[in-house]
Amino acid sequence: MTKNTMTNNPTIVLTGGLGFIFSHVTEHFVKKGWNVIVIDNCSTGSHPEIINGSFQFILMDISDQNIIDKIISINPDYIIHAAANSDVDESILSPLFVVRQNTLGNLYIFEAARKCSNLKKLVYANTDEIFGECRTQKKEDEILFPRNPYSASKATGALFRYAYDNSYPFLTDKTAETRFCNVFGPRQDPRKIIPRIIQSLVTGEAVPVHNKGVGKREYIYVKNIPSVIEKVLLNGNRSYNITNNDLFSVNEIIEIIEKITGKIVPKCDGIRPGMDSIYQMDSLRIKLDLGWKLEYTFEEGIKELLKTNNLCQ
Ligand SMILES: NC(=O)c1ccc[n+]([C@@H]2O[C@H](COP(=O)([O-])OP(=O)(O)OC[C@H]3O[C@@H](n4cnc5c(N)ncnc54)[C@H](O)[C@@H]3O)[C@@H](O)[C@H]2O)c1
Repeated sequence: MTKNTMTNNPTIVLTGGLGFIFSHVTEHFVKKGWNVIVIDNCSTGSHPEIINGSFQFILMDISDQNIIDKIISINPDYIIHAAANSDVDESILSPLFVVRQNTLGNLYIFEAARKCSNLKKLVYANTDEIFGECRTQKKEDEILFPRNPYSASKATGALFRYAYDNSYPFLTDKTAETRFCNVFGPRQDPRKIIPRIIQSLVTGEAVPVHNKGVGKREYIYVKNIPSVIEKVLLNGNRSYNITNNDLFSVNEIIEIIEKITGKIVPKCDGIRPGMDSIYQMDSLRIKLDLGWKLEYTFEEGIKELLKTNNLCQ
């Protein structure tokens, strides 16, 4: 039993609510006094240290079919489905494991949602990687062209959403999808590029710069995510690209961090097979439909992270 089950506040189930991005979302809804229930298998990227009694925690894998009955028994007002094995390299090495987990998980969560009589909204957390490598900014309705097993497994969630919205009148207009660009910030996997660059400035260990550092990604600071998720949860019923179009190569990020800190980032060459060279999205829809505005710029996020590590004032 969680702290707020006796109040009239909404009940929300968050899968993957211990992970890098969604641990911030878990804390956001706890702060709002919602009755928060996190389902997570405590695998890569999880932060079980945030478990402190302010929300209910259920240790469970999304690819365990029992999750359907578990969620139905909770009968939440809202579901955020963010649990996924998000390791692209692992998905290339072990596609059967990663794709089975993510795809079955996606199916089970939609299946549970259509049987939750209290449900007001299910939000599925997706990624820009489902569009594959792109030379132009992709709009939400453009073709999905995932180019690694992880991205293909994530794309299934987008497809299940269309299918469930269309097939089950109960779910029509009760589902939405967020497609984030690269998120960075506190609690990020230390193997990702921004934490690695920061770590290299602390320890002097060289950062492996993959494919000459020319690959480009759009970045968003994690502290922007809880409020945009809440917006979509309360008012959204479509797929929404979420990016501020801060598009940087790894070399450019290194330059920005060197300029802010006045320090040289130690580097070495690295190779990453299967890496797409660029992702970019058009985010007009969420701005026009839901009035979304960025709260923290890329530079504010980077400076905050550097300050935490005593690398800038
Ligand atoms: N990191 C990004 O830049 C980014 C960008 C776009 C979308 N996303 C999506 O956002 C979500 C969260 O990403 P993240 O970077 O915070 O990932 P993360 O790896 O930090 O967190 C994922 C969480 O899900 C849990 N999990 C993984 N597989 C599970 C399973 N089979 N059953 C139950 N729990 C499971 C993990 O224990 C972890 O707590 C993912 O769905 C990811 O695809 C991430």
